[in-house]
Order: sequence, then C-alpha cells, then structure tokens
Amino acid sequence: MNRREFARGVGWAVGAAWTSGRVRAGALDEGPPTPTVRVRPDVMSLSPNCPQIEALRRGVAEMKRRSETDPNSPTGWIGQARIHEQACPHNNWFFLPWHRAYLYYFEEICRQASGDPEFVLPYWDWTSHPTLPPTFLGGADNPLDHVSNNPNFPGPHQGRRIGADEPIDPEFNGPLVLQEILDNADFDSAIGSDRRATAPRPFRGNQSVLEGSPHNNVHGQVSGDMATFWSPRDPIFWLHHANIDRIWTLWDARHPGSFPAVDSFLDYNMNVFFDTSGNQVGKTVRDVLSTQALGYRYPGQAAEPPPVVAAREVAAVRQGLRIRSDVREVATRVEPLQVDLAPAAALSERLASIAAERQPVPATVRLRIGGIRQALPPGAYFRVFLNCDYLTPATPTTDPHYVGSFAFFDHADGQGQGHGRGEGEAGHGAAHEGGTSFYVDATRTVRLLGRQEIFDPSRIRVGLVTRARAGVEVAEQVLRLEPGQVEVAVLDQAR
Ligand code: C2O
Repeated sequence: MNRREFARGVGWAVGAAWTSGRVRAGALDEGPPTPTVRVRPDVMSLSPNCPQIEALRRGVAEMKRRSETDPNSPTGWIGQARIHEQACPHNNWFFLPWHRAYLYYFEEICRQASGDPEFVLPYWDWTSHPTLPPTFLGGADNPLDHVSNNPNFPGPHQGRRIGADEPIDPEFNGPLVLQEILDNADFDSAIGSDRRATAPRPFRGNQSVLEGSPHNNVHGQVSGDMATFWSPRDPIFWLHHANIDRIWTLWDARHPGSFPAVDSFLDYNMNVFFDTSGNQVGKTVRDVLSTQALGYRYPGQAAEPPPVVAAREVAAVRQGLRIRSDVREVATRVEPLQVDLAPAAALSERLASIAAERQPVPATVRLRIGGIRQALPPGAYFRVFLNCDYLTPATPTTDPHYVGSFAFFDHADGQGQGHGRGEGEAGHGAAHEGGTSFYVDATRTVRLLGRQEIFDPSRIRVGLVTRARAGVEVAEQVLRLEPGQVEVAVLDQAR
C-alpha cells in the first residue's frame, strides 16, 4: 500500500494529524502527506503523574470498565486479551509481525479510550531498568498493577508473582544477551524464529534467541497471568512487547534489508484484530514492516523508514556445515545432558576459523535444541554449554563454555493440557512438531574459547543443565529436559 492508500485506509480513520510534503536532502518533496510519527517513550522516563501515564491509566481503566459491562466487548480489556489467548503465534516467524499488529490496534483502542489524542504506548526496557516500573505497582486501585483477587478486575485473573524489588534476571535480559542478539545477522536465530510456518497457528517450530531467552523469561519471571496465553490481562504485557518490538527495530537498523523476502509470508493477512469501533480488521506482514508507516517509532530510531525487505537471499547453510544427532537421554536437576557430535572436516575447519576470528564473512554458529518433549514450568529454565567436559548443574554462566539460558512460555501447551485459567478454554495445543525447539547462538562462545586457546574444533559436545529460578521451589520430576535432537550448523551471512 502506498502512502495515499495508507492515509485513506488507516490514518484518517483514526484521526491522525498529517503534514503535507517534507524536506528531504535539501529538496522540497511534494509527495503525498506523511503521517505524524509519535515516539513511544521509555516508561522510566515518564513521571508517575505526567499526562502520558495519566492517559494510560485512564485508557486501561476505561477498557476494564467496558469488559465489566460486556465481557465480550472487543475493545474491552478482556476482549483484547482474548485475541492473544486464541490466536497469538509463538515459535515461528509470525511472532514479531503479529505482536506488532496486535500492539498497534491496542494502542489505537487505548488512545480512544483514554480520550487523549496524544496517547502513545510506552515500552519497558528491562535491560536498563530490570525492576517493574513503579507506576505499575500500587495495588488494586492502580489500573496498571495486577494483583490476585482484585475486586476492580473484570473477571478471572492471576496476579504477578515477581517482587517489587526483584530484578528481571540479566542471565536472560542483560546487556550481553541483547548485544548477542543484535550482533547476529541470522534473522531466524537472532529475532525471527522459524520461517517454515505458512500461517501464525498452529505451527510450532524453533524459537529465536530473542523469543526463547529475554521474551520468555519476562513472562515466566513476572508469572501469574504473564506466564500464560492470557498474559495481556496484566498491563505490563503491552510494555514488555513494545520493548520486544523496539528490539526488532534495533536489529533492523543493524542488518538493513535482512528481513526475509518471502511473498507468501509478507502477504499473509493477520486479521484477528479489532479497530476502535469493534470491527474485525487486519494487516499483512508487509503492512507492519515499517513502524513509521504505522505512525510510531522509538527514541533514537530514524524518522524515515529504512528499506524494509531483503533484496538478497538470506543466509543459507552450505553442504557439510550442519550436523545433527537424535537424543535419548535427559538432563535432570543433578545430571547434565551431554550430546556428542562428530563434525565432518568442512564443519571443523569452519569452526576453527571462527574460533581464530579468521572468518572472512560474518558467520553464526547456530545450535538447535529440538523437539523438547515436556516444557519446563515458569519457575525453571535450562542452560546450554559447549565442549565443557566438567559440566555440572552448578557450572556458572561465567564459565567460558557457557552459551546461553532459555525459558519456556505457556508451558502447559507442550503437555497437552488447557492453558490459561478461568476462561482459558479455547484450545490450540495441536500440531507442534513434537515439542518446543530453540535456536541458540554459540558464535560468541566459540570465539571466546578460541581466544583462550581451549577450543578443539574436531569435536562438538553440547551440554544442557536444568535449573530452578532463585527462590522458587520446583519439583524434582519436572526439572527434566528431554530434547529429541540437537543440531549444530554454521551459517555464512551473504553480503
Ligand atoms: Cu504472544 Cu509475549 O506473548
């Protein structure tokens, strides 16, 4: 859709302000009007009683009131959460565009409900400010808090379990993890998740590091509704996903033109949303590639949209640079799982050159922990190590063989149970390809081991350990990780 169609179809309908023409590179551009691009702010930059937070509180309170009056109101708080419960895609490449469209329509509805035409959704940067934003705490009278048994909440709900002073764990959400995601030019393992899905649901393939580590961890660590597909009942959901959305824009800026140019994907119409009048509406993946075209951006993001779709093919795994093994053992609380793979010469050589930083083009050492039969509960997670012969469940993340840490979202889904609580009946647990799968980026670890001269490229040993979160009791028998396969591949990034 061009700008004029955009103006007709979306901009005017929601009353966005427009400017006609703009100055570009010293020349006056007499093109069609450009939408006002609002900047979604960092919630920590907003004082508790500033107009933006006031508007957010008013909008959320009004949406909850609508659900109180009519639980089926599509523009009510529960109606919006239900969209997620019934339709949100995970473990595949619809994850980012679907949640972007979801937030876009939510923001329109909340703006209208707030009565403030300047309303814009803030984001929660848990890397810089790992504790919950203070404006989202304060008990049942604060529409932004989410406590159990809240008499002001319309319908069933499950309050957060994270403490007000408890930081989101940097093992999943810290600067090193973010750096690794932004450094990784492989769309699938960095941010995109599995590209084989032809529709958002029910395909469940591989999660990217962004999805499987920081994203899942915030859901599990905040817990309560946030650990389920009913997570949008908790107002912090929207700010968490705005931050995920922001990280997508950061990755785009680092790797311009790397979004997969697959028409069947780009043209898929995600049409499960509602506009401010409660009409069912949708957007294609292509429609949401530019945040600027949707009327918003994040601080530091260019005001002009970048080129959005790849002009070149994305990374391909060459022959011989992949090895895979079926797994029959289990990682338990006391016993790590070690999977040994014997790489062919081509793969060994490539790993050696990455370890020696002799790699001519950027490459990603991508592990895949596939077909995990039973998800770990929100109180637990697993760590991945590479070539660590002395691995125990206590081996720290400061060990040079450490690769990364991963958690599950909506763990009940992998177990054939219903998920969500209360009204969480609508089922979608079918057709996973035999369990949850994670992409893991081991590039940094291979380089680090190389620098320390302790990397042996003739062997690959992928180690997995399961752990309970600090201060959380998890029964021994569910602290088991049983993957179906482990795979290692080197992806050369086309340039
Ligand atoms: Cu579809 Cu983070 O949730």
